[in-house]
Amino acid sequence: MCGITGFVGKGEALPFLMQGLNKLEYRGYDSAGVTLVDDNGLYTFKSKGRLCQLEDLLKGESHPQKTGIGHTRWATHGIPSNLNSHPHTNAKNTISIVHNGIIENYQAIKKELIRQGYPFLSQTDSEVIVHLIDYYDRGNLFAALQKAVRYLEGSFALCVVSVQDPDTIYVAKKESPMIIGHCASGSFCASDIPAVLEYTKDILSLEDGQIAVLKADGIQVYDFQGELQKQKWMHIPYDLQAAQKGGYDTFMEKEIHEQPYVLSETLRGRVDNDVRMDELKEININWEKLERVYFLACGTALNAASFAQDLFRQWVPACPSFALAASEFRYGNYYLNSDTLCIFVSQSGETADTLAALQLAKEKQAKTLSIVNVLGSSLARKSDCTLYTCAGPEIAVASTKAYTTQLVLLVCLMIALSEKLGCQPKDVSKLMADLKRIPEITKDMLAQQEIVKDYAQCLKDQKDAYFIGRRLDYFSVVEGALKLKEVSYVHADAYIAGELKHGPIALIDKGTVVIALATQEEVASKTISNIEETIARGANVILITTQYQDTHAFQKVLRIPDVHPALAAIPAAILLQLFAYYGAVLKGCDVDKPRNLAKSVTVE
Ligand code: F6R
Repeated sequence: MCGITGFVGKGEALPFLMQGLNKLEYRGYDSAGVTLVDDNGLYTFKSKGRLCQLEDLLKGESHPQKTGIGHTRWATHGIPSNLNSHPHTNAKNTISIVHNGIIENYQAIKKELIRQGYPFLSQTDSEVIVHLIDYYDRGNLFAALQKAVRYLEGSFALCVVSVQDPDTIYVAKKESPMIIGHCASGSFCASDIPAVLEYTKDILSLEDGQIAVLKADGIQVYDFQGELQKQKWMHIPYDLQAAQKGGYDTFMEKEIHEQPYVLSETLRGRVDNDVRMDELKEININWEKLERVYFLACGTALNAASFAQDLFRQWVPACPSFALAASEFRYGNYYLNSDTLCIFVSQSGETADTLAALQLAKEKQAKTLSIVNVLGSSLARKSDCTLYTCAGPEIAVASTKAYTTQLVLLVCLMIALSEKLGCQPKDVSKLMADLKRIPEITKDMLAQQEIVKDYAQCLKDQKDAYFIGRRLDYFSVVEGALKLKEVSYVHADAYIAGELKHGPIALIDKGTVVIALATQEEVASKTISNIEETIARGANVILITTQYQDTHAFQKVLRIPDVHPALAAIPAAILLQLFAYYGAVLKGCDVDKPRNLAKSVTVE
């Protein structure tokens, strides 16, 4: 989820590029770079770290070039470093590109290009693009780009400049966002609207499979076959501040709505008839001798980890496994040896408790695997093997999109591990088919937001709410309760539905809010009986369940689609996040920055 800008015009390109990158820095702040171009050559400047470091690099010199491209990076392949920063240039320094997205077949392309003698400087997937364009270039950059994009698998928003064509920017798009604008001073492009709002409010949103040719005096759009396309321009009715939140009121709301996209990015290239997880080769372990598995994390990530441990225990019952709060692990005298696998889950990769647990695991020679969102973070660097969620930067303190991407990646990992250990998940073909549908399913859940908003009204005069569920639903309700309490300050507890009658039911009274999850077919009817017990005591119940459940006894029902039980937690999470969000808005809370909380907890 990087940010891209491009400008070709009558005046200097750099001011547009820098103001645009500034507005897009929320899309990634691992590194930044620009390439400026004129008849004499390409001038590339890039720097690891925040945009201000690039600004320092550019200071004190004049940059009269009228064409340029810029990039702010959120690393997905290759750690944050100067070499991995964009733009990437070919060896002759005649072509330069910036890229947002993931090239799935980059390894195959890289291998072939290396065989052809192309030198690679970075570990990124993006660098293959510039060499591939160079490979096809016979003096017509448009034709070379056309050939290259047809060969690329995955997602890309791409800007290309060259010395042979210094008054033009070529822009190509597939599954990553790219908008185009034009005003009296020139033509420009960017990954998102905030970057262009100072210059225009009329934009053209490039469609998948299109290439735009930008010149100072106008823009033409073609498809990948070279057919000229009709342009559909639109007017942006909102201001800059709203645009940075994508038109949403808060980052939390925006991030909830980004889930279909980031889930598809996280699944990209992973799921076919089988799960692809080549990274597991990096763990030096004899799988046949594996003695036990620990799942370690904090907060929301712990809820994802606990869910994964339950799946692992179901699918690989012979291998003992445990999910633990990372903050407890160091003090519990847990048995660790070189035949132990420790799986860490973290959005930031910098949580002190999780890092301390990793340190202990390493001291005892256990094997370490991390699921992390931030590339190059401490946890990623120190683990034997890292799998990345592709959630992009999560700005709201309350984790939403990082959590669901953790869930989906953990399901893939549990499938891969169970196969390595000679087992198989139940109903695996449905599971594989449903994994591919997850982005679509989450879109359908978001479409229920008005109903959820209406149901959240029940929190208006409430100080407490109780969440209940059984089996995998239990981990989902623990997360649902955490989300509600952290953003709305409503006291929220989660219980195993079967445990209610052993004590907590004493808290249920007339009007008490109960949010019940019953998505696991084998126990759903038992959960429903438990909910009826709360209704008998006056509870105001919201039930989230499957399409098939008989719900005639309930007034407030939300349904998730027919999906493998191991995946039900993802659509359920979307509904529970929306519930917490609207509850917090109702109570006038600062949703993005809840009191007493920080995004990354770097103290133990
Ligand atoms: C809750 C939340 C926290 C984090 C926890 C771990 O919404 O975001 O509970 O999940 O602090 O942080 P990471 O995942 O960065 O290790």
